[in-house]
Amino acid sequence: MFEEKPDRRISRRTRGERTKRRQRYLLSSANKNKNNAETFVSSTESLSHSEESATENNNFFTWNEPAVHDMGNNLSNASTSKPKDHLYKILVIGDLGTGKTSIIKRYVHRFFTQHYRATIGVDFALKVLNWDENTLIRLQLWDIAGQERYGNMTRVYYKEAVGAFIVFDVTRRNTFESVANWKQDLDSKVQLPDGSHIPCVLLANKCDQQKEGLVTNPAKMDEYCRDNGFSAWFETSAKDNINIDEAARALVEKILEKDSVINNDKRGDQFSITRDSNPEPSGNKCSC
Ligand code: GTP
Ligand code: MG
Repeated sequence: MFEEKPDRRISRRTRGERTKRRQRYLLSSANKNKNNAETFVSSTESLSHSEESATENNNFFTWNEPAVHDMGNNLSNASTSKPKDHLYKILVIGDLGTGKTSIIKRYVHRFFTQHYRATIGVDFALKVLNWDENTLIRLQLWDIAGQERYGNMTRVYYKEAVGAFIVFDVTRRNTFESVANWKQDLDSKVQLPDGSHIPCVLLANKCDQQKEGLVTNPAKMDEYCRDNGFSAWFETSAKDNINIDEAARALVEKILEKDSVINNDKRGDQFSITRDSNPEPSGNKCSC
Protein backbone atom coordinates (compact mmCIF):
# COMPACT_ATOMS: atom_id res chain seq x y z
CA MET A 1 0.00 0.00 0.00
CA PHE A 2 1.38 3.39 -0.96
CA GLU A 3 2.14 5.54 2.06
CA GLU A 4 2.12 9.30 1.35
CA LYS A 5 5.17 11.15 2.59
CA PRO A 6 5.02 14.90 3.32
CA ASP A 7 7.50 15.88 0.60
CA ARG A 8 5.46 13.99 -2.00
CA ARG A 9 2.98 16.85 -1.94
CA ILE A 10 5.46 19.03 -3.76
CA SER A 11 5.64 16.75 -6.73
CA ARG A 12 1.84 16.72 -6.94
CA ARG A 13 1.71 20.38 -7.85
CA THR A 14 0.83 20.95 -11.44
CA ARG A 15 3.37 22.55 -13.74
CA GLY A 16 1.21 25.68 -13.77
CA GLU A 17 1.29 25.91 -9.97
CA ARG A 18 5.04 25.40 -9.89
CA THR A 19 5.46 28.09 -12.53
CA LYS A 20 3.34 30.55 -10.54
CA ARG A 21 5.35 29.83 -7.39
CA ARG A 22 8.58 30.50 -9.27
CA GLN A 23 7.18 33.69 -10.70
CA ARG A 24 5.99 34.90 -7.29
CA TYR A 25 9.44 34.20 -5.91
CA LEU A 26 11.04 36.02 -8.82
CA LEU A 27 8.79 39.06 -8.35
CA SER A 28 9.40 39.17 -4.61
CA SER A 29 13.16 38.94 -5.23
CA ALA A 30 12.92 41.81 -7.67
CA ASN A 31 10.73 43.88 -5.33
CA LYS A 32 13.11 43.38 -2.42
CA ASN A 33 15.74 45.06 -4.54
CA LYS A 34 13.59 47.81 -5.92
CA ASN A 35 16.03 50.45 -4.79
CA ASN A 36 18.50 49.10 -7.30
CA ALA A 37 17.88 50.21 -10.83
CA GLU A 38 18.83 46.77 -12.08
CA THR A 39 18.52 43.51 -10.25
CA PHE A 40 20.30 40.27 -10.93
CA VAL A 41 18.04 37.32 -10.38
CA SER A 42 19.39 34.27 -12.01
CA SER A 43 22.46 32.73 -13.45
CA THR A 44 23.47 30.52 -16.34
CA GLU A 45 22.31 27.13 -17.44
CA SER A 46 23.93 25.12 -20.15
CA LEU A 47 22.47 22.65 -22.54
CA SER A 48 25.65 20.75 -21.99
CA HIS A 49 24.39 20.08 -18.43
CA SER A 50 27.47 21.25 -16.63
CA GLU A 51 26.95 20.42 -12.92
CA GLU A 52 27.74 23.91 -11.84
CA SER A 53 25.28 25.72 -14.06
CA ALA A 54 22.47 23.19 -13.83
CA THR A 55 22.29 23.42 -10.06
CA GLU A 56 22.52 27.19 -10.08
CA ASN A 57 19.46 27.60 -12.19
CA ASN A 58 16.86 25.08 -11.27
CA ASN A 59 14.74 27.76 -9.66
CA PHE A 60 14.20 29.68 -12.82
CA PHE A 61 14.28 27.56 -15.91
CA THR A 62 12.26 24.52 -16.66
CA TRP A 63 11.50 22.99 -19.99
CA ASN A 64 8.34 23.52 -22.03
CA GLU A 65 7.08 26.44 -20.02
CA PRO A 66 3.70 27.87 -20.99
CA ALA A 67 3.56 31.23 -22.76
CA VAL A 68 5.73 33.68 -20.93
CA HIS A 69 3.45 36.60 -21.64
CA ASP A 70 0.66 34.73 -19.90
CA MET A 71 2.97 34.05 -17.01
CA GLY A 72 3.81 37.72 -16.96
CA ASN A 73 0.16 38.67 -16.76
CA ASN A 74 -0.40 36.29 -13.89
CA LEU A 75 2.58 37.77 -12.19
CA SER A 76 1.28 41.28 -12.69
CA ASN A 77 -2.10 40.37 -11.28
CA ALA A 78 -0.49 38.87 -8.20
CA SER A 79 1.01 42.22 -7.34
CA THR A 80 -0.97 45.04 -5.78
CA SER A 81 0.81 47.66 -7.92
CA LYS A 82 0.21 45.59 -11.08
CA PRO A 83 3.49 46.38 -12.82
CA LYS A 84 3.88 45.63 -16.48
CA ASP A 85 6.06 42.58 -16.78
CA HIS A 86 7.98 41.87 -19.97
CA LEU A 87 10.14 38.88 -20.72
CA TYR A 88 12.37 39.27 -23.76
CA LYS A 89 14.58 36.66 -25.32
CA ILE A 90 17.88 38.25 -26.36
CA LEU A 91 20.58 36.53 -28.41
CA VAL A 92 24.29 37.20 -27.94
CA ILE A 93 26.18 36.02 -31.00
CA GLY A 94 29.53 36.58 -32.68
CA ASP A 95 32.79 34.78 -33.40
CA LEU A 96 34.75 32.61 -30.98
CA GLY A 97 36.47 34.45 -28.16
CA THR A 98 35.01 37.88 -28.93
CA GLY A 99 33.80 38.22 -25.34
CA LYS A 100 30.10 37.26 -25.41
CA THR A 101 30.21 35.29 -22.19
CA SER A 102 32.37 37.95 -20.55
CA ILE A 103 29.90 40.67 -21.49
CA ILE A 104 27.02 38.68 -20.02
CA LYS A 105 29.00 37.90 -16.87
CA ARG A 106 29.86 41.56 -16.47
CA TYR A 107 26.25 42.64 -17.10
CA VAL A 108 24.56 40.03 -14.93
CA HIS A 109 27.15 39.09 -12.31
CA ARG A 110 29.30 42.24 -12.27
CA PHE A 111 32.30 40.00 -12.73
CA PHE A 112 35.20 39.56 -15.20
CA THR A 113 37.90 36.96 -15.65
CA GLN A 114 40.75 36.70 -18.16
CA HIS A 115 40.33 32.95 -18.11
CA TYR A 116 38.85 31.74 -21.41
CA ARG A 117 36.54 28.78 -21.40
CA ALA A 118 34.73 28.34 -24.72
CA THR A 119 30.98 28.07 -24.47
CA ILE A 120 29.60 24.77 -25.69
CA GLY A 121 26.23 25.07 -27.40
CA VAL A 122 24.35 27.73 -25.49
CA ASP A 123 24.25 29.16 -21.98
CA PHE A 124 21.45 31.17 -20.42
CA ALA A 125 21.34 34.04 -18.01
CA LEU A 126 18.49 36.15 -16.72
CA LYS A 127 18.76 39.84 -16.00
CA VAL A 128 15.92 41.70 -14.33
CA LEU A 129 15.56 45.41 -14.89
CA ASN A 130 13.31 47.66 -12.87
CA TRP A 131 12.81 49.77 -15.97
CA ASP A 132 10.54 52.30 -14.31
CA GLU A 133 8.16 52.19 -11.36
CA ASN A 134 5.53 50.39 -13.42
CA THR A 135 7.66 48.21 -15.62
CA LEU A 136 9.67 45.13 -14.83
CA ILE A 137 11.75 43.76 -17.70
CA ARG A 138 13.36 40.35 -17.65
CA LEU A 139 16.00 39.72 -20.26
CA GLN A 140 16.58 36.09 -21.03
CA LEU A 141 20.09 36.19 -22.47
CA TRP A 142 21.08 33.37 -24.82
CA ASP A 143 24.86 33.13 -24.95
CA ILE A 144 25.48 31.21 -28.14
CA ALA A 145 28.91 29.66 -28.68
CA GLY A 146 30.94 31.23 -31.49
CA GLN A 147 31.51 27.84 -33.00
CA GLU A 148 27.76 27.46 -33.53
CA ARG A 149 27.94 29.46 -36.75
CA TYR A 150 29.38 26.37 -38.35
CA GLY A 151 26.75 24.11 -36.80
CA ASN A 152 23.12 23.75 -37.73
CA MET A 153 21.51 24.72 -34.43
CA THR A 154 21.25 28.48 -34.79
CA ARG A 155 17.75 28.31 -36.27
CA VAL A 156 16.62 26.53 -33.11
CA TYR A 157 18.44 28.93 -30.79
CA TYR A 158 17.18 32.04 -32.57
CA LYS A 159 13.53 31.02 -32.43
CA GLU A 160 11.29 33.68 -30.89
CA ALA A 161 14.12 36.03 -30.00
CA VAL A 162 13.11 39.69 -30.00
CA GLY A 163 16.55 41.29 -29.86
CA ALA A 164 20.22 40.50 -30.42
CA PHE A 165 23.75 41.63 -29.78
CA ILE A 166 26.39 40.79 -32.33
CA VAL A 167 29.83 40.96 -30.76
CA PHE A 168 33.21 41.37 -32.45
CA ASP A 169 36.70 41.81 -31.06
CA VAL A 170 38.29 45.16 -31.91
CA THR A 171 41.74 43.59 -31.83
CA ARG A 172 40.92 40.96 -34.45
CA ARG A 173 39.81 42.32 -37.83
CA ASN A 174 38.50 38.93 -39.01
CA THR A 175 35.87 38.90 -36.23
CA PHE A 176 34.47 42.14 -37.68
CA GLU A 177 34.42 40.56 -41.14
CA SER A 178 32.20 37.81 -39.71
CA VAL A 179 29.66 40.31 -38.39
CA ALA A 180 27.90 40.52 -41.75
CA ASN A 181 27.58 36.73 -41.83
CA TRP A 182 26.13 36.63 -38.33
CA LYS A 183 23.67 39.40 -39.20
CA GLN A 184 22.60 37.67 -42.36
CA ASP A 185 22.18 34.37 -40.50
CA LEU A 186 20.11 36.15 -37.87
CA ASP A 187 17.86 38.06 -40.27
CA SER A 188 17.22 35.00 -42.39
CA LYS A 189 16.22 32.84 -39.43
CA VAL A 190 14.23 35.04 -37.08
CA GLN A 191 11.74 37.85 -37.59
CA LEU A 192 9.21 39.69 -35.45
CA PRO A 193 5.56 38.70 -35.95
CA ASP A 194 5.11 41.54 -38.50
CA GLY A 195 8.01 40.16 -40.57
CA SER A 196 10.50 42.87 -39.62
CA HIS A 197 14.04 42.13 -38.46
CA ILE A 198 14.61 41.93 -34.74
CA PRO A 199 16.45 44.90 -33.22
CA CYS A 200 20.18 44.22 -33.21
CA VAL A 201 22.99 46.16 -31.54
CA LEU A 202 26.61 45.73 -32.61
CA LEU A 203 29.22 45.52 -29.85
CA ALA A 204 32.85 46.36 -30.60
CA ASN A 205 34.29 44.58 -27.59
CA LYS A 206 37.73 44.72 -25.91
CA CYS A 207 37.97 48.46 -26.49
CA ASP A 208 40.40 48.56 -23.57
CA GLN A 209 42.94 47.20 -26.07
CA GLN A 210 44.53 48.44 -29.30
CA LYS A 211 41.89 48.59 -32.06
CA GLU A 212 42.31 47.63 -35.69
CA GLY A 213 40.13 47.94 -38.79
CA LEU A 214 36.97 49.96 -39.46
CA VAL A 215 36.29 50.42 -35.76
CA THR A 216 39.08 53.00 -35.63
CA ASN A 217 36.83 55.25 -37.72
CA PRO A 218 33.55 55.98 -35.87
CA ALA A 219 31.96 57.78 -38.85
CA LYS A 220 32.53 54.72 -41.03
CA MET A 221 31.12 52.52 -38.30
CA ASP A 222 27.96 54.66 -38.16
CA GLU A 223 27.59 54.25 -41.91
CA TYR A 224 28.22 50.51 -41.68
CA CYS A 225 25.52 50.15 -39.04
CA ARG A 226 22.99 52.14 -41.03
CA ASP A 227 23.72 50.14 -44.19
CA ASN A 228 23.50 46.81 -42.42
CA GLY A 229 20.39 47.35 -40.31
CA PHE A 230 21.91 47.68 -36.85
CA SER A 231 19.95 49.74 -34.34
CA ALA A 232 23.16 51.03 -32.76
CA TRP A 233 26.79 50.19 -32.08
CA PHE A 234 28.89 50.58 -28.97
CA GLU A 235 32.53 50.16 -28.10
CA THR A 236 32.46 47.94 -25.04
CA SER A 237 34.85 46.42 -22.59
CA ALA A 238 33.76 43.58 -20.37
CA LYS A 239 37.09 43.95 -18.63
CA ASP A 240 36.74 47.62 -17.74
CA ASN A 241 32.94 47.67 -17.69
CA ILE A 242 32.54 50.17 -20.51
CA ASN A 243 29.20 50.75 -22.24
CA ILE A 244 27.63 47.40 -21.44
CA ASP A 245 24.68 48.74 -19.47
CA GLU A 246 24.26 51.48 -22.06
CA ALA A 247 24.18 49.02 -24.95
CA ALA A 248 21.63 46.86 -23.16
CA ARG A 249 19.48 49.87 -22.47
CA ALA A 250 19.62 50.92 -26.13
CA LEU A 251 18.52 47.46 -27.21
CA VAL A 252 15.68 47.33 -24.70
CA GLU A 253 14.46 50.74 -25.85
CA LYS A 254 14.31 49.46 -29.43
CA ILE A 255 12.48 46.34 -28.31
CA LEU A 256 9.98 48.37 -26.29
CA GLU A 257 9.25 50.39 -29.43
CA LYS A 258 8.27 47.07 -31.03
CA ASP A 259 6.42 45.76 -27.99
CA SER A 260 2.95 46.14 -29.50
CA VAL A 261 4.07 44.03 -32.46
CA ILE A 262 5.61 41.43 -30.15
CA ASN A 263 2.57 41.26 -27.88
CA ASN A 264 0.13 41.02 -30.73
CA ASP A 265 1.58 37.67 -31.57
CA LYS A 266 -0.85 35.13 -30.22
CA ARG A 267 1.24 32.02 -30.69
CA GLY A 268 0.79 29.92 -27.60
CA ASP A 269 4.35 28.73 -27.34
CA GLN A 270 6.01 32.08 -27.47
CA PHE A 271 9.27 32.25 -25.53
CA SER A 272 8.99 28.70 -24.32
CA ILE A 273 12.33 27.10 -23.57
CA THR A 274 12.83 23.56 -24.64
CA ARG A 275 15.81 21.31 -24.56
CA ASP A 276 15.11 20.47 -28.16
CA SER A 277 15.19 22.62 -29.68
CA ASN A 278 18.45 57.09 -21.60
CA PRO A 279 21.38 57.76 -19.69
CA GLU A 280 24.27 59.26 -21.61
CA PRO A 281 26.59 56.59 -22.93
CA SER A 282 30.30 57.09 -22.60
CA GLY A 283 32.79 56.31 -25.33
CA ASN A 284 31.91 55.66 -28.92
CA LYS A 285 28.42 54.72 -29.81
CA CYS A 286 25.89 55.47 -32.45
CA SER A 287 22.17 55.05 -32.69
CA CYS A 288 21.37 54.54 -36.32
P1 GTP B 1 33.00 31.53 -27.20
O1 GTP B 1 32.22 31.03 -26.04
O2 GTP B 1 34.11 30.60 -27.58
O3 GTP B 1 32.16 31.86 -28.37
O4 GTP B 1 33.77 32.88 -26.75
P2 GTP B 1 33.15 34.19 -26.08
O5 GTP B 1 32.74 35.12 -27.15
O6 GTP B 1 32.11 33.83 -25.08
O7 GTP B 1 34.43 34.82 -25.37
P3 GTP B 1 34.73 34.93 -23.81
O8 GTP B 1 33.76 35.83 -23.14
O9 GTP B 1 34.90 33.59 -23.26
O10 GTP B 1 36.12 35.73 -23.85
C1 GTP B 1 37.24 35.25 -24.57
C2 GTP B 1 38.50 35.85 -23.96
O11 GTP B 1 38.50 37.27 -24.15
C3 GTP B 1 38.63 35.62 -22.45
O12 GTP B 1 39.99 35.36 -22.16
C4 GTP B 1 38.21 36.96 -21.85
O13 GTP B 1 38.82 37.20 -20.61
C5 GTP B 1 38.67 37.94 -22.89
N1 GTP B 1 37.86 39.16 -22.91
C6 GTP B 1 36.51 39.23 -23.00
N2 GTP B 1 36.10 40.50 -22.99
C7 GTP B 1 37.20 41.26 -22.88
C8 GTP B 1 37.43 42.67 -22.82
O14 GTP B 1 36.53 43.49 -22.85
N3 GTP B 1 38.74 43.08 -22.75
C9 GTP B 1 39.78 42.20 -22.69
N4 GTP B 1 41.01 42.72 -22.62
N5 GTP B 1 39.60 40.87 -22.74
C10 GTP B 1 38.34 40.41 -22.84
MG1 MG C 1 31.34 32.04 -24.50
